Amino acid sequence: MSIKSLVESDRQHLIHPVVSYRAHEARGVTVLDSADGVFLRDIEGNQLLDAFSGLWCVNTGYGHASIVDAAAKQMAKLPYATGYFHFGSEPAIELAAKLVELAPASLQHVYFTLGGSDAVDSALRFITHYYNATGRPSKKHCIALQRGYHGSSSIGAGLTALPAFHRNFDLPLATQHHIPSPYAYRNDYADDAALIDASVKALEAKVAELGAHNVAAFFCEPIQGSGGVIVPPVGWLKAMREVCRKLDILFVADEVITGFGRTGPLFACEGEGVEPDLMTVAKGLTAGYAPMGAVLMSDAVYQGIADGGDVSAAIGHGHTYSAHPVSAAIGLEVMRLYHEGGLLANGQARAPRFAQGLDALLDHPLVGDARHRGLLGALELVADKDSKRGFDASLKLPDRIAAAAYRNGLVFRAFGDNILGFAPALCYTEANFDTMFERLAKTLDDVLAQSDVRTALKGVSGCGSRAAA
Ligand SMILES: Cc1ncc(COP(=O)(O)O)c(C=O)c1O
Repeated sequence: MSIKSLVESDRQHLIHPVVSYRAHEARGVTVLDSADGVFLRDIEGNQLLDAFSGLWCVNTGYGHASIVDAAAKQMAKLPYATGYFHFGSEPAIELAAKLVELAPASLQHVYFTLGGSDAVDSALRFITHYYNATGRPSKKHCIALQRGYHGSSSIGAGLTALPAFHRNFDLPLATQHHIPSPYAYRNDYADDAALIDASVKALEAKVAELGAHNVAAFFCEPIQGSGGVIVPPVGWLKAMREVCRKLDILFVADEVITGFGRTGPLFACEGEGVEPDLMTVAKGLTAGYAPMGAVLMSDAVYQGIADGGDVSAAIGHGHTYSAHPVSAAIGLEVMRLYHEGGLLANGQARAPRFAQGLDALLDHPLVGDARHRGLLGALELVADKDSKRGFDASLKLPDRIAAAAYRNGLVFRAFGDNILGFAPALCYTEANFDTMFERLAKTLDDVLAQSDVRTALKGVSGCGSRAAA
């Protein structure tokens, strides 16, 4: 198909995730064609440095021959094996055991899904089943964080706290609640301890309001991703885990983004010695080379479900592609690359360069905040650094930033509220970071050079460049 026909056919037939359908029809698709290492190539031949690992998932980088070989071998040998009727496959069994070996010690059992949304949805179904099976049917309410993202399944999207996922979808449900995000930049906490204390107290207050006998679980991302890369202080995750134990509610860590080296250790929970009751993962599990997610479950929850009621009755939860052997074979090779392949160590070694590059941009007139952990980070753009006032939505700054970045050969995430998200692959070199930050600085300068952006900026109207500001 010609490029023109592809764009037209996309416009006619392909529904894209989380866009305004009318805006997409007007803009047209950008067709990606190939990728190697940390570079993407579009169908017009433009080369782009990927500073977002696809959608925070290609943690290994693109074009790993060993992953392609593992997939091809498994496809030739056994491309599909159902997990139903007591069947299974070698790679899926091995990957489940590997995850249990690598994950926090509390997690002993694995249910494989196709991605993160159905991992969250599966976790919710298992939790409901668990409390019913163990004689506590009133425990139905779930609490999550404002600005949280837990995917877009029918129920999980109610735990997500982003307005687009609720509007016209009749969510959140009456059993779904949100407490404030640990958003240091937009709050006035005296110090980290005060922020942690406020989160703990907010959860305690919400549970008290609902009654602990009615509350099933607290869900959180160790670092909030799609809500704008909100990085809580070290100690926050542990404190939230401990208060859940005290309140007798399950603690669910959604590590769909933070898992697999994104924040430094293999799991963010590991970084704080946190042992959740359930953990959801996806993305870096297969580094995006094939779809797969998982729910990891504690033995107590598993045994509660297994022994609940009639032990000979089937637990009615399943997917045709649960524990898919090709995805599992890919997952096993990806785990090998993280460890024996040195990717985890490389990601940890490069994190200071990433942090330094983002922090250096705090001097830029557009940048109000820089935050990061491991290779997950963000810049928050503001019109007034003193008051932290944001830019008016009518400026459509995120669209302009994304377009300027693309022209400069760089891809990252420009969120609607003027937060720029970054998640470079764990294989990034120092030279890749040099290129990334050169292109990022030029992108910010290019947007700052637009007269209406300068006018919107407090104290620098009339300046034509970053240097002049
Ligand atoms: C924390 C978190 N949970 C769940 C999901 C949903 O995963 P998926 O898009 O694979 O369904 C995401 C996706 O970005 C996520 O970031």
